[in-house]
Amino acid sequence: MSCVPSTFGNIALFGGEIQAVAAALVTNHSASVSSARRFTQPSVEVRNASFCNITVTYTHPGQGDSIIVEAWLPPKEVWNGRLQAVGGGGFIAGRYSEFYTAMSGAIGDGYATMTSDAGLGGALDPTSWALLSPGNVNLYYLQNLASVSLDDAATITKSLIRAYYGRGPEYSYWNGCSQGGRQGLMLAQRYPTAYDGIAAGAPGIYWNDFFPTMLWPSQFMNMLGDYPYPCEVEAITAAAITACDPLDGVKDGVIADVDACLASFDPFSLVGNVINCAEMETPHITSAAAAVVNATWQGMQNVHGARLWPGLNPGTDLAIIAAKTNCTDGPCQAVPPPVAAQWLSLFVARDANLDLSNLSHVEFDWLVRQGKQRYNSIMGTGDPDLSAFFGAGGKLITFHGLLDQLIPPKGTSKYFDTVSSLTPKTQGSYRHFEIPGWSHCGNGGPTSEPTSLFDQLRAWVENGTAPARSPVTVTDLEGNARGRIICPYPQKAVLDKGCPIAEGAGCWSCSF
Ligand SMILES: *[C@@H]1O[C@H](CO)[C@@H](O)[C@H](O)[C@H]1NC(C)=O
Ligand SMILES: *[C@@H]1O[C@H](CO)[C@@H](O)[C@H](O)[C@H]1NC(C)=O
Ligand SMILES: *[C@@H]1O[C@H](CO)[C@@H](O)[C@H](O)[C@H]1NC(C)=O
Ligand SMILES: *[C@@H]1O[C@H](CO)[C@@H](O)[C@H](O)[C@H]1NC(C)=O
Ligand SMILES: *[C@@H]1O[C@H](CO)[C@@H](O)[C@H](O)[C@H]1NC(C)=O
Ligand SMILES: *[C@@H]1O[C@H](CO)[C@@H](O)[C@H](O)[C@H]1NC(C)=O
Ligand SMILES: *[C@@H]1O[C@H](CO)[C@@H](O)[C@H](O)[C@H]1NC(C)=O
Repeated sequence: MSCVPSTFGNIALFGGEIQAVAAALVTNHSASVSSARRFTQPSVEVRNASFCNITVTYTHPGQGDSIIVEAWLPPKEVWNGRLQAVGGGGFIAGRYSEFYTAMSGAIGDGYATMTSDAGLGGALDPTSWALLSPGNVNLYYLQNLASVSLDDAATITKSLIRAYYGRGPEYSYWNGCSQGGRQGLMLAQRYPTAYDGIAAGAPGIYWNDFFPTMLWPSQFMNMLGDYPYPCEVEAITAAAITACDPLDGVKDGVIADVDACLASFDPFSLVGNVINCAEMETPHITSAAAAVVNATWQGMQNVHGARLWPGLNPGTDLAIIAAKTNCTDGPCQAVPPPVAAQWLSLFVARDANLDLSNLSHVEFDWLVRQGKQRYNSIMGTGDPDLSAFFGAGGKLITFHGLLDQLIPPKGTSKYFDTVSSLTPKTQGSYRHFEIPGWSHCGNGGPTSEPTSLFDQLRAWVENGTAPARSPVTVTDLEGNARGRIICPYPQKAVLDKGCPIAEGAGCWSCSF
């Protein structure tokens, strides 16, 4: 069919009212798509691609929203018969420049692809929509971001595909990280037939646990009344890498055995050590720095000392986000991660002016409780019952870098464990891969993106071949880039006895 609005005149959505449909052919489309933008697929140079660009604008009557779904459909001759939807990041549902890049990659590989703005526009910061008035959260908008727009977009896009090609997609896939990972799991939990295969990286699930956990280091500093210099935190991180790197049997600058590190490395043993730090008058590691790093690794704790949520792993760069301080003007100050501060102030406290710098521990705990009470059913995304998705034949791959600077990787393994305890034979439908040396969704680190996972997901869905391992590349301390594998959790990659590490991935096995 031709790429004109009338081709798509019969799109319907239960609970939705279509307001406008635009369609125009895009030709000579080019993009350099880095694997860092698509996580589970290799980099690709897209040249001279054509596709039908369709935007559908719709509302849920009575809810005052206006949502745009944007689908790109390649010409029939080059379409691979599949849909690959891409997710968002931060408070962005998806329709935004970096996710357009991921869509270009999907087009380059022959997929039909799509994204949605969930009706939130392109603002990175939710301040523009979070509150209807002081004290009143825009719950319909939040619900659109959380879940509803995901189902809508899948339904609409499949209708567009049927209208354009005269047949639906043979298989539909989701590919996202962070917010996009959370979206993938929400789809598996609530809309079990929307996708056949879901790749969900560093998923922002347990939203009301990990967001306050992101604020825990700054809250801890505020309670301590002491703010370390970034160089102190960096020095402790470097010492942890030196001490813990060999614990996994391979000296490569990567901490693969996090628990052994937590059990054996004591940041307090470094207090007083002289360091290189131009900002400090007498450069050394203070006890405050050790306490902040300890608190960030150990995770959020309530006023009674109960551990509420796991922290970030040793080796992770804490000075850039989680335990960031600003020391440019007088004494250092805590810089809480903006996304987490926005969630707590706008949605939980419902007060854009909430002062996070002066909360007592009891007040902080109460905000954590309120977040769960108000939003676990909307945004929590921790439902471990995936039986409907599994029953429909769905396959799920999650993956999480162990150097994630934002979302504690232990949350995702906890989710896998919880699903497993509820569902026998979970590994038959769901596998989780931890990635030592990889940070949040491709934001640096010695380990590459797991660029084979998407095709492995396809092989699992389409041919029943479950991913037993997946290749990555690790750049070691000497700058050698070497093949390595990641393994389905709880297995870990181990170097085969006597096999030279320089031989790469073939020298590694997955082992419990
Ligand atoms: C196609 O795009 C390339 C790269 O952007 C550009 O150099 C070329 O001039 C374009 N060709 C046409 C026919 O527009
Ligand atoms: C670009 O794509 C168009 C449409 O598919 C095709 O006609 C043209 O030959 C291509 N140009 C190049 C330089 O490959
Ligand atoms: C697709 O169409 C929408 C709406 O007209 C437009 O905003 C967007 O930039 C287009 N995308 C491309 C790649 O042309
Ligand atoms: C490190 O953190 C844990 C967990 O919060 C805490 O129990 C412990 O007392 C801390 N260590 C020190 C020396 O403060
Ligand atoms: C650090 O604080 C100074 C002075 O308060 C401010 O001007 C600057 O923007 C802050 N920098 C960051 C990165 O927060
Ligand atoms: C911090 O909170 C305390 C107790 O609520 C209050 O008395 C004090 O004025 C606050 N300080 C600042 C700087 O806001
Ligand atoms: C499935 O198996 C067939 C036959 O071996 C092969 O041609 C095809 O590429 C496989 N598909 C995937 C997604 O691995």
